[in-house]
Amino acid sequence: ERQEKEALILVNEFAQQWFADQLYNTDEGKSIALSYFKSRGFRREVMDKFGLGYAPNARNGLLKAAVAAGYKEEQLDKLGLTRNKKDFFWDRVMFTIHNLSGKPIAFAGRILKKDVKAPKYVNSPESEIYYKSEVLYGLHQARQSVRKLDNVYMVEGYTDVISLHQNGIENVVATSGTSLTPGQARLVKRQTENVTLLYDGDKAGIKAALRGVDVLLLEGLNVRVVILPDGEDPDSYMQQVGTTAFQEFLEKKRRDFLFFKADLLLEEAGDDVAARSDAIRSSIATLALVEDPLKRAGYLQQFTGRLGLEESLLVNLVNQAIADRR
Ligand code: CTP
Ligand code: MN
Ligand code: MN
Ligand code: MN
Ligand code: MN
Repeated sequence: ERQEKEALILVNEFAQQWFADQLYNTDEGKSIALSYFKSRGFRREVMDKFGLGYAPNARNGLLKAAVAAGYKEEQLDKLGLTRNKKDFFWDRVMFTIHNLSGKPIAFAGRILKKDVKAPKYVNSPESEIYYKSEVLYGLHQARQSVRKLDNVYMVEGYTDVISLHQNGIENVVATSGTSLTPGQARLVKRQTENVTLLYDGDKAGIKAALRGVDVLLLEGLNVRVVILPDGEDPDSYMQQVGTTAFQEFLEKKRRDFLFFKADLLLEEAGDDVAARSDAIRSSIATLALVEDPLKRAGYLQQFTGRLGLEESLLVNLVNQAIADRR
């Protein structure tokens, strides 16, 4: 089984090289895909580091090349690189998804045409070497920096990771648009206990951050959140303001999960007493996920101060929420 997995990784390595070759060494790739990446500000060094490539506008180039190089169609099928004797990825720019040790385990392809109704990204299906819920995009490239800084930024997208990395923020990983899983939280915890969620500044991003907070707390992580300006994602905001201002923004806007959630819900609630009570109760339920009693007490103390409520009242609510969980 281990040999089988290693064989599949070799096939993906071939595919990654083939996609890169199409990008850098063909007229089609250069004029369509390389120029696209350049227009997004990606430099060659970072493109190599993340294994970017191009799947041309034909449907059997990879299959032909791989079979000629001695790889089996059956393996390509297993990896989702081909289907019914046709390439699965075509007419898209390609992103390689690596495992923790830097081996290619899957791919994602981004469409270039704006008018087409097809999904913006298509991703490899799961395989023997790719369990989506156990992978964080960019973790291999981020690992050193995450350990050094003892913090990781969690973003939504591939291009967010690449863009921040290129601009000097290397401790970044992406959940790749899916909701954060316990497996991903455990993966991160082996590198650092401090996670900062940095999702897109839109409704979907905020909702995903609210869900992500609970998942991370349940694994015992320290969770902070930064909300980007409306309509921005980490990549677009970095391109707009540059590294220094971006870093300053992160420092200034970083909040503990509790105040992120409470402020958000309380703002929605406005002056309505019943709605405010629900907001507080829901924030308390999240606080109750913090296992460490010292941290829990610390957050609670700050929270009490902000709300101007009786401390004993909130303590009781937290204890009730903890009891409800058991
Ligand atoms: N995603 C996906 N399939 C889609 C749309 C999104 O898998 N049809 C995932 C991708 O991992 C993507 C992430 O969700 O990177 C965030 O989506 P989005 O914000 O729409 O894309 P960006 O990453 O911002 O990509 P770009 O800047 O190239 O538009
Ligand atoms: Mn630590
Ligand atoms: Mn979005
Ligand atoms: Mn984007
Ligand atoms: Mn985005």
